Amino acid sequence: MFQESKYKQEPVQKDLNIFKEELSEKDFQAFSSFIYSQYGIKMPPVKRIMLQGRLLKRIRELNMNSYSEYKEYFFSKEGQQKEIFNFLNVITTNKTDFFREPVHFNFLEEEILPDYFENNNSGLFNVWSAGCSSGEEPYTISIILNEFKAKNPAFNFSILGTDISHKVMNIAAHGIYAASKVELMPLDYKKKYFLKSKDRENPTVRVNPMLQKNITLKYVNLINSPYDVKEKFNVIFCRNVLIYFDRATQEKVINSLCRHLEPGGYFFIGHSESLSGMNVPLKHIKPTIFQKVI
Ligand SMILES: C[S@@+](CC[C@H](N)C(=O)[O-])C[C@H]1O[C@@H](n2cnc3c(N)ncnc32)[C@H](O)[C@@H]1O
Repeated sequence: MFQESKYKQEPVQKDLNIFKEELSEKDFQAFSSFIYSQYGIKMPPVKRIMLQGRLLKRIRELNMNSYSEYKEYFFSKEGQQKEIFNFLNVITTNKTDFFREPVHFNFLEEEILPDYFENNNSGLFNVWSAGCSSGEEPYTISIILNEFKAKNPAFNFSILGTDISHKVMNIAAHGIYAASKVELMPLDYKKKYFLKSKDRENPTVRVNPMLQKNITLKYVNLINSPYDVKEKFNVIFCRNVLIYFDRATQEKVINSLCRHLEPGGYFFIGHSESLSGMNVPLKHIKPTIFQKVI
């Protein structure tokens, strides 16, 4: 059993020679099987060097000497309780942006919201950002819904953002981003929804608390259904997440998410993802935009 104190030491520069050692096929196999079985993320042999690089950072932080030492710790009882959070932070790919794939936000603004509000102006409009990463997606949804509410005060909404990486969800909770992330955003949105820092060396923006007010963030592993989520949603964004799963897992995840989608509710996927040939209760509306069959 490893002693806790050993891993709390400050990182020291290790003799780099030891890292001429590679992550062995056998150790890679142990990590990749774990990642696939627990989180659905495919980790084929071509990803060995990538995983090796990502784990090396953790190994240095823990002041360990080898991949096998890290593996032994990771699969120990203590490692499974304590290291799993750091492990998820390094194995997930969290690339995201404000207004990424803008066609979905235009469709939400121009088609879904006016139609919903015409038929239902007293309920709560629920949106789920599944695999929300560092929050740019739920905050973009919040901008669109706040804009709609400004014109239609009776409109009320709630947004759920979920992910498995605590690191990115922490960023989402704080809502502080490099100023360059909002550079291309329309000026009126920038003025209304972001506060600029005074730090010229490291310019950042902070989201206006009004964008945060209706967002709840939560850990949800999409491959473990039923989910601990009570609501039914009018729209589910599940974009650039399915791409990490194999087809059988994608189909299972979509069906699980659809159990939380209102009949007639909308489902968005990323532009490099496809549902073709899958047995899911969704009809195709436009590329990457689907609607739950009634
Ligand atoms: C590339 S980001 C996409 C972010 C955002 N949806 C977008 O399109 O910009 C993918 C996110 O999916 C999350 N993810 C990966 N596997 C997951 C799983 N099994 N359950 C929930 N989230 C997962 C990752 O942690 C990551 O933050």
